[in-house]
This record gives sequence, structure tokens and C-alpha cells, in this order.
Amino acid sequence: MTRPDNHVIVLFGATGDLAKRKLLPGLFHLAWAGLLPDGYRIVGSGRAHSALSDDAFREHARDAVATFGRCEPSGPVWESFADSLSFAVSDPPDAGPLLPAVRAAENALGGQPRKIFHLAVPPTAFGSVVGMLGDTDLAANSKVIVEKPFGTDLASARALDETIHAVFDESRVFRIDHFLGKESVDNVLALRFANGMFEPIWNREHISHVQIDVPETLGLEGRAHFYEGTGAFRDMIVTHLIQVLGIVAMEPPVSLAAQQLRDEKDKVFEALRPIEPGHVVRGQYDGYRGEPGVAPDSQTETFTALRLEVDNWRWAGVPFYLRSGKKLAQHREVITLGLREPPLRMFPTDLPWQEKNLGNRIVIDFGDPGWIAACFLAKEPGPTMRLAPEAMTFRYADSFCQEHGLEGYERLILDAMLDDQSLFTRSNGIERIWEASTPLLDNPPPLRPYAPGSWGPEPAVSDLIAPHRWYLEDADVE
Ligand code: BG6
Repeated sequence: MTRPDNHVIVLFGATGDLAKRKLLPGLFHLAWAGLLPDGYRIVGSGRAHSALSDDAFREHARDAVATFGRCEPSGPVWESFADSLSFAVSDPPDAGPLLPAVRAAENALGGQPRKIFHLAVPPTAFGSVVGMLGDTDLAANSKVIVEKPFGTDLASARALDETIHAVFDESRVFRIDHFLGKESVDNVLALRFANGMFEPIWNREHISHVQIDVPETLGLEGRAHFYEGTGAFRDMIVTHLIQVLGIVAMEPPVSLAAQQLRDEKDKVFEALRPIEPGHVVRGQYDGYRGEPGVAPDSQTETFTALRLEVDNWRWAGVPFYLRSGKKLAQHREVITLGLREPPLRMFPTDLPWQEKNLGNRIVIDFGDPGWIAACFLAKEPGPTMRLAPEAMTFRYADSFCQEHGLEGYERLILDAMLDDQSLFTRSNGIERIWEASTPLLDNPPPLRPYAPGSWGPEPAVSDLIAPHRWYLEDADVE
């Protein structure tokens, strides 16, 4: 596998939640797997109030890797990773100590290393950081990874794009959505397009509805500052879940190269019908308003379920149901394709309705490490023709060595270093999603309370999907 050129990686928001949970452990795992460049330096940056010395940043990174990482922060790989770390304050528009710190990192590597700036900061800070990179010339010979959500509506997404393009041309912009880097999400491309048996039924003739269900058990985890201004729709639906929908619903691309893959995904977004507020359930878990940093009358939703329609020849009339929320019953990431039921007249009719419903579907669990099940009705042994739901299941963990697996962020940071934009989002696709979301953003339905540990506000969330049922609530394959 090609190793990237030497890089200076600058992590804005280096002391924040994302850096702690995903980016620092992910970068260390890349180093451990021998996938980082031969020469690399990682410069953490943050505002003055979160300033750290280089040593304190190394300690911070060690704690992050020990708590959230997959490999122990010890031994020679850790020593050399820790040596590559430094920290410099930046307070846009003032680059302050960051400028000399980046120059020192470049000099330490020698030659002309590439630079990559990862903006792990709240969306409101993207513009000022990018402006600072342009003004100081730090942007030369570099690229930028921009976190989601990209804007908060159509107008702000367009404005952000203009700000970024004033400094970075499109070939240097990597809008990250870590769900697109998950092994099992990529495997949907393999499942669909590398096999002859699924694609012929992957359409409105055979599929009655699709569910993309990402409940989380986590609550706010101290992220009120980010979450209060974002909410479940912008944090999860408009980003991760709709991107997954793009992969599930796209036409076969001519190749997996960046342009071809993204052209096909963006065509799905082009075909999205405007979201009807009446097809959306917004919820807030009981107790949310008492969380530190949350307004006592907060209208931020911690749960969204909605019905989307992709109005094209393949999918017209097939509802896509998406659901995600905090403090729900399970932490899962599951795509379910419900297959149309054949006439069952020749079989006994005493099969409970739910059991019929459990056969006839394809379920893709894209949590790490993930599995895929084809669920069907089989004959129970015995003298009568009694049916029962069964499944043929492929499990990543039982089938492949997990050692070479990369988490979403790891895969995408590596791709960005290799200049591969295939799994990054493009502005036209994002703008189209915001455009389809406008009726909902202009006219959001009222918030409904739900109990922590439940599946969301009832009966609204069951009514939304009726006559189907949410797969996870009576799942038989785990
Ligand atoms: C992030 C959201 O992008 O994705 C979080 O901001 C969410 O709110 C997280 O918890 C879920 O991702 P994963 O990969 O941890 O399941």
C-alpha cells in the first residue's frame, strides 16, 4: 500500500472531545499500523484558555489513547509518536505561536513536507480558522479537513464554501463524514456491486421500505456547547445518515474514483424530495434541560426520526425511514431493507404478523465490526408446513482478521493524506441536502418528550413508520 508523503498534521481543537475520542487515538493507530508517512509531525492547537505545554499535550494524548484507543500507548511506536507531538496556541485571526510551531515542524522533517489542517472545532469557528490560514500563508502546500455539520442551512453552507474556496481550491478541501469511512458502510458498495445476487432486487419492484437506524445510548457527554446549537437533525441526520442513504440508494458508479463515486451519490441527493415537516418526529429526552450548559427552555431536539423519499426510477414510492437520538435503548447502526412479501396463500395463515415481518429482509449492521443478514422464512421441521423466521448471517468478526481494520476517522485521515477525495463529501451534494431540508428548518414540528432508555417519543415514532415496524425493536439477529 502506498505511504503518504511526509506531512505536518495540524489539529485545531486538539484538546476537544473529538480529538480525545477519535483523532488522537486514530492517528496513533495509524502510526502503529505503519500507515503514517515516514516523516510526520502533529501540532495540536487551541485557544489560549486551553493552552498546554508540549509535554502536557503528550500526556493528554497518552490518556486519550489509553482510554479510547485500540493499542497501548507504550513501546517504541508510542515513543516516536509522542516525540512527534507539540502544542501551539492560535486565536484566529491571530496565528500567534502556531506559525513558528508549524515552521519548526516543517524544518524538523526537512524538504517540503505537505501540511494538513484538521478543523475539529465548532462549525462557527471554521471561517475564522480558514481566514487565518490564508492570511498567514500557512495554507500554502496544504489541504484542509473540515468537520461536519457543513453549515447550518443552505445559505450558511454556501457562505462557508465561499470562505473556504477563497483560500483552498476544491481539490484541497476534504469535508469529512466519518460514517463514510466505516468498513461496513464501504462494504455496502462491495455487497451491491461485486455480487450478482443483491443488485437485481435492489429497487422499488422488490423493496417495500428502507430503514437507517442509528440510536445512541450516549447522552451529551459534556458537549452542550456544541450540541445546543446543533441538535440531532444537524448532528446526525443531515450528515451521517443521509450520506449512508446516498451509498444505499446510488446507481452503480463507472468506477470508485472520486468523481464517479461522488457523482452517483450526489444524484441521489438531487432526487430527494423536500422534507415534509409532517413526516418528521422531533424529540427531547426527559432531563435534557437540566444538563450543565443547556438552556432551561431549550428547544434543541435530541432525537429525530423522519421519512424521506428519493424520487427517481429506482426508488419512487419507497419510503426511507431514518432515526437517530441520544439516550435511547441501544447503541446501534443498522440499515434494513424490507422486501416486498410474496403471496403466502399456500402456507398456513396462523403465522403471527411480526414473524412474517421478520423474514424477507436484508439487514446490514454497520457498527464496528458489523454483520449482514439475509432474513427469510423457513419451514420448521415437522409434519405441518409451519414457517419461522431465520437468517443467513455474515459476520465481519468471524470472517476476516480485524487487525487491519481501520476506524472511520483513521481511514479518512489516511485518504486525505493520500489526496483521495472519494469518501469525502462535495459541496453540491451537501447544498442539495440542505435545500431539501429547508421546509423542515423553516417549520419544525413541536418537540415531544421521551424517556431515557426508550426508542423515542411514542406513539409518534411507531406511527411514522406504520404499517412497517422499526426492525431494532423486535430484532432477532444480533
Ligand atoms: C458524531 C456526532 O459525528 O458522531 C456524535 O457528533 C455521535 O454526536 C457520533 O455520537 C457517533 O459516531 P460513532 O462513530 O461514535 O458511532
